[in-house]
Amino acid sequence: MNIIIFGPPGAGKGTQSKFIEKKYNLFQLSTGELLRNEIKNKTQLGLEISSIINSGDLVSDEIVSKLIEKYISDQKNKQRLIFDGYPRNIDQAKNLDNLLKKYNQKIDIVLKLSVSLETVKKRILERQSQEKRSDDNELTAIKRFKTYEQSSQPVLDYYKESNLLKVINGEATIPEINIEISGLIESIKG
Ligand code: AP5
Ligand code: MG
Repeated sequence: MNIIIFGPPGAGKGTQSKFIEKKYNLFQLSTGELLRNEIKNKTQLGLEISSIINSGDLVSDEIVSKLIEKYISDQKNKQRLIFDGYPRNIDQAKNLDNLLKKYNQKIDIVLKLSVSLETVKKRILERQSQEKRSDDNELTAIKRFKTYEQSSQPVLDYYKESNLLKVINGEATIPEINIEISGLIESIKG
């Protein structure tokens, strides 16, 4: 099954993806992690995108599309991907559908984690003290939240229309959300 996990910064996309990845033997495709690896490895792409990421803006659709196609086209990931952080706007959602069609795949469920800006700020600042992610500070967290708010609604409408969207209260505890997500996945596994 292919899953999209959607939500603002700090919503718990990465945390929940790692849990589902293990439990259902899937593969977490985090575009944020892939981009941060490019920066860490000081690749040409990494040099080009580091200031964009650190300011909380989105990297171009074209760059991210190229990164994800590599994973979608890989036969061993077929119909077992968790998209964490992609798509982020309506063009990316349509592009993802086209890519999946090209490789005979589809999305089975879209999990949206809802959290408030207050929670986002609190979680991002907590994580900053542990992980030292370069885009984790209060100003960038607010910017990333605003970027999310500006582009997310058409994506949510798009998946609502195709009946794939499930909205989850991301303010609950990590284990409570684990349980809710497992229930949703089991219900579509049939
Ligand atoms: P990305 O890495 O995707 O960052 P993000 O969307 O801002 O989300 P985060 O990774 O910060 O949060 P998360 O939802 O994964 O939460 P987590 O589980 O870590 O993207 C980074 C940047 O890359 C973007 O700004 C953009 O520039 C670029 N980019 C990426 N994808 C792109 C795309 N498709 N197009 C263009 N550009 C793109 O949890 C956060 C913290 O809270 C953790 O410490 C965790 O332990 C804690 N926590 C989690 N859940 C709970 C809970 N329920 N209760 C209490 N604490 C919790
Ligand atoms: Mg993440």
